[in-house]
Amino acid sequence: MGRSSQFLSLLLAFLVSFSSLPIPSVLSSSTDSFVFGGCTQEKYAQNSPYESNVNSLLTSLVNSATYSSYNNFTIMGSTPQDVVYGLYQCRGDLSMPDCATCVARSVSQIGVLCSQTCGGAVQLEGCYVKYDNATFLGVEDKTVVLKKCGSSVGYDTDSISRRDAVMASLAGAGGPYRVGGSGQIQGVAQCVGDLSLGECQDCVSYAIERLKSDCGGAVYGDMFLAKCYARYQTGGADHDDHSSNGHQYHEKSSSEGEKTFAIIIGLLAGVALLIIFLTFMRKVLGEPGK
Ligand SMILES: *[C@@H]1O[C@H](CO)[C@@H](O)[C@H](O)[C@H]1NC(C)=O
Ligand SMILES: *[C@@H]1O[C@H](CO)[C@@H](O)[C@H](O)[C@H]1NC(C)=O
Repeated sequence: MGRSSQFLSLLLAFLVSFSSLPIPSVLSSSTDSFVFGGCTQEKYAQNSPYESNVNSLLTSLVNSATYSSYNNFTIMGSTPQDVVYGLYQCRGDLSMPDCATCVARSVSQIGVLCSQTCGGAVQLEGCYVKYDNATFLGVEDKTVVLKKCGSSVGYDTDSISRRDAVMASLAGAGGPYRVGGSGQIQGVAQCVGDLSLGECQDCVSYAIERLKSDCGGAVYGDMFLAKCYARYQTGGADHDDHSSNGHQYHEKSSSEGEKTFAIIIGLLAGVALLIIFLTFMRKVLGEPGK
């Protein structure tokens, strides 16, 4: 408890839109968008056994994500102080290649964000990664890590009751990954794979309860607890909120389609420029054999 509140107090809830950074769009997709990250205050010494254990743990997570959507690892040290625990969880709808890409990205972001800290965690749209020197594996933890509510649509009882119905269907769905929708409203919930089904149910129920009480009639709501989350959004409503962060979890939204189109146009333009350049170079350098 002490640790998780410590974690929370140090949580850097940067709602940074990574899509605004100059990362080539081809390499980033909505599942890799940053949601939150946090690090412990304690740091480890450079070139220490703990450092090499953290590195091998993170490598194990990345490797494992090529064949499993959840896994946990414990790296034993020569002394008890060097033990490090870690896990990752991909969102239930991700393909294995997407899961692997997402975990690899999370791990590289943890490396930047939590440089030499004893523990760290990063949540991207499509996956969650955490490591620490205190074990948290198999422990249900309902600490609110990130709460975000969209702008309120006013007291529109119709959409609120529809939202509540979607949330109720999520609560009743069972399993670690749950999706539901009604009309324009879509909901998703995900547990970390170390929870039992009963703990997952308890965690998701609490997240939903908090979404309803805290987000009222908001157009979207995100409730990330330490071991599960529940989110909802209203279809037509996300454009004005789009810049705040990547809160979408659609497979493909229309803007995603537009992005892909823009990438293709960009690539074609690049190829055309290359051809023009090569033609030009050939003229300048003269034909070979002259
Ligand atoms: C984790 O590491 C910090 C800093 O080295 C240390 O103070 C703390 O006791 C460690 N916790 C555990 C459970 O080993
Ligand atoms: C951690 O992984 C091991 C081996 O894959 C597995 O047997 C164990 O149940 C996992 N523990 C938790 C808490 O998920």
